[in-house]
Amino acid sequence: MHTTTEAVRIDVGSSAGAYAVQAGPGLLGSLGAQLRDVGLGARQFVVSSPTVWRFHGTAIAQALPDAHTILIPDGERFKHLQTVNRIYEALGAAAAEREAAVIAVGGGVIGDVAGFAAATWMRGVALVQVPTTLVAQVDSAIGGKVGVNHAAGKNLIGAFHAPRLVAIDPAFLATLPRREFRAGLYEVVKYGIMASRELFDRVAGDLDSLFKRRPERLVPTIVDCCRIKARIVTADEREAGERRLLNLGHTVGHALEAVTKYRRFRHGEAVAYGLLAAARIAAHRGLFAEDERHRIADVITALGPLPSVADLSIGDVLEAIRRDKKMSRGVLRFVLPVSIGSAQVVNDVQADEIVKTLTELGMRS
Ligand SMILES: NC(=O)c1ccc[n+]([C@@H]2O[C@H](COP(=O)([O-])OP(=O)(O)OC[C@H]3O[C@@H](n4cnc5c(N)ncnc54)[C@H](O)[C@@H]3O)[C@@H](O)[C@H]2O)c1
Ligand SMILES: [Zn+2]
Repeated sequence: MHTTTEAVRIDVGSSAGAYAVQAGPGLLGSLGAQLRDVGLGARQFVVSSPTVWRFHGTAIAQALPDAHTILIPDGERFKHLQTVNRIYEALGAAAAEREAAVIAVGGGVIGDVAGFAAATWMRGVALVQVPTTLVAQVDSAIGGKVGVNHAAGKNLIGAFHAPRLVAIDPAFLATLPRREFRAGLYEVVKYGIMASRELFDRVAGDLDSLFKRRPERLVPTIVDCCRIKARIVTADEREAGERRLLNLGHTVGHALEAVTKYRRFRHGEAVAYGLLAAARIAAHRGLFAEDERHRIADVITALGPLPSVADLSIGDVLEAIRRDKKMSRGVLRFVLPVSIGSAQVVNDVQADEIVKTLTELGMRS
């Protein structure tokens, strides 16, 4: 555990070159200097959303006084090509060329959409991620996956485009709605289950002080997650192996989001159900101890209420899982916990195991 409130630096390797994730209080204030350090002093284009701008626009504009500002709507329903096109229009109007840098300041949607614009504008310009939600700070800003949704499915249009820098300032989280903050904590719990018992124990043992969002408590937790993600994506940038472990809880989670048309759950909430499902499937198989499964269920319960799944049909959820499988070259991969702190990919989970588990989670047949 790191107790310092100074900025922490984590290095990430990528095929496009290494980059640093910097995390700590006050980082937004020094963003201009950090950009110059990585050679991105000229032609800066901040892409953000009206919501983020309302709370933090003054501070962002102060940090980057020479940047153009492009505001686009965020939220999952705006994560499509038309929104990317709005960024292209603004870049074109300002005659942005190869040396332009796109600085995404927002949640995962802004990071993915602005990142995709950066990946494709003039065959790729520099990208900087300044994540402002907990989900984005612990997950989406790192690893270079960018993209948008298509009518045929989520994240179907995308690219790998590594950022040149990721700057994480916990001050952004002070204005995050409580539900969004909790959604991020489920992803933190995911990291604990898949890779660090110490992180899991620390989060489980001290939810109250995390909820107070004090930087000295938040930064070490965020840094632990970033270290796990950085290590994994450095080893397996293109998700040929170990990076798949990051999908713990996401097979069922994605299916729940799809059957409710991305309206009922925050992504992290759907993942919370996915974690409960994965823990049950693993426990049924004798792969995972029952008391550890209870510990996971207890933390998820303690994090607060989740939207109901009682009206969801198990058949529909199973169908959505199969559709996801079709999209991933026909292999149904489940990530299952083996103990708190480690997980493995399993390719032979059967429909009846999923049905049994979804029934136990309260869905209707
Ligand atoms: N690229 C990846 O590797 C990766 C990984 C995980 C998730 N994602 C993507 O991330 C998206 C989810 O990200 P998200 O949960 O950040 O959602 P989001 O970007 O929709 O943000 C959630 C809400 O919080 C608001 N917001 C953002 N920052 C704020 C702040 N500081 N204060 C107040 N409000 C703020 C936004 O306006 C929005 O309404 C999904 O589209 C998912 O696919 C991508
Ligand atoms: Zn996720």
